[in-house]
Amino acid sequence: MKRINIKTGCPYDVIIERGGLKKCGEYISEVIASRRAVIITDDTVAQLYLDDAEASLRSFGFECSSFVFPHGEQSKSIKTLSEIFDYLCEANITRKDFLIALGGGVVGDITGFAAACYLRGIEFVQIPTTLLAQVDSSVGGKTAVDIPGGKNLVGAFKQPALVICDSDTLDSLTDDIFADGMGEVIKYGMIRDRELFGLLEKHDISTVKQVIDDVVYTCIDIKRDVVEHDEFDKGERMILNFGHTLGHAIEGWHEYRGVSHGMGVAAGMCIITERCAPQLADRLKTCVAAYGLPTGTDIPMSELLPFCSKDKKRESDNLNYIVCPEIGRAEIVRTTVDGFSRLMEEK
Ligand code: GLY
Repeated sequence: MKRINIKTGCPYDVIIERGGLKKCGEYISEVIASRRAVIITDDTVAQLYLDDAEASLRSFGFECSSFVFPHGEQSKSIKTLSEIFDYLCEANITRKDFLIALGGGVVGDITGFAAACYLRGIEFVQIPTTLLAQVDSSVGGKTAVDIPGGKNLVGAFKQPALVICDSDTLDSLTDDIFADGMGEVIKYGMIRDRELFGLLEKHDISTVKQVIDDVVYTCIDIKRDVVEHDEFDKGERMILNFGHTLGHAIEGWHEYRGVSHGMGVAAGMCIITERCAPQLADRLKTCVAAYGLPTGTDIPMSELLPFCSKDKKRESDNLNYIVCPEIGRAEIVRTTVDGFSRLMEEK
């Protein structure tokens, strides 16, 4: 078992352990006084892991119930959020009780946001079951839902009380969903860790799966360092968005269907690197392709740019984007929306 303490305003631990889900009752009882939990999950994850989570919680004296919604990005909506609130209200969930997000990024983001808002804030625990959620979205306290105007546009910072990453849950992922998480893993190598990038470029998914606990630990430890310096995303934390300006644009163009977040990020990292650090582009593209992720897009830039101007890293007419001038180091570049458009239209 590995443990990382995240020293944000409200500090908390991330536990990385094969089999950790079946011990969630024990770990949660160490950090939460209340014995009443609501597990929020989706229909796919519920079939696989809800019984294990409930059994562990009950064996440690927790009373628990669950709210299950249909899987997929379409559920990360105000409508589902409102249904969660109605459920919590009908179940008489009080400020002393807590939520558990059991699932991938959609479940974690919406549960965290529900916990941030319900009764002006109750505690919640993250049990991420996808690689993407383990290495990125479950840690750092960003919570949100999507609105018709864009993804994650309504949300709050709300740190969990505990995160439990169980690599056993990654064994049930399809290759596509595992590769989706690899987009973020490659990002961590690019922005902060030459050694991690070196390991990734030498190997492929089957080798990475053998050392997945170490890989997850390394990524979360990088995120810990960044988030501890900039919990509220005012500066350094933006480096975690390497590849995301274009990545989100690609996802948005596809209406968040058929192109996963990791695929968008992978393509976004390659496109920005081709323009801003062309000496690294071939290495990055070879690595990205080895994990079955796209190295670019066929969508005309003129159609992607309108999506980029909605980026959350935009400040008035300025737009921040991230460049890695060398492997393991990221810089924030501040430009205008027009300057970014010119750079993107160069090729
Ligand atoms: N996923 C980027 C961040 O947490 O800041």
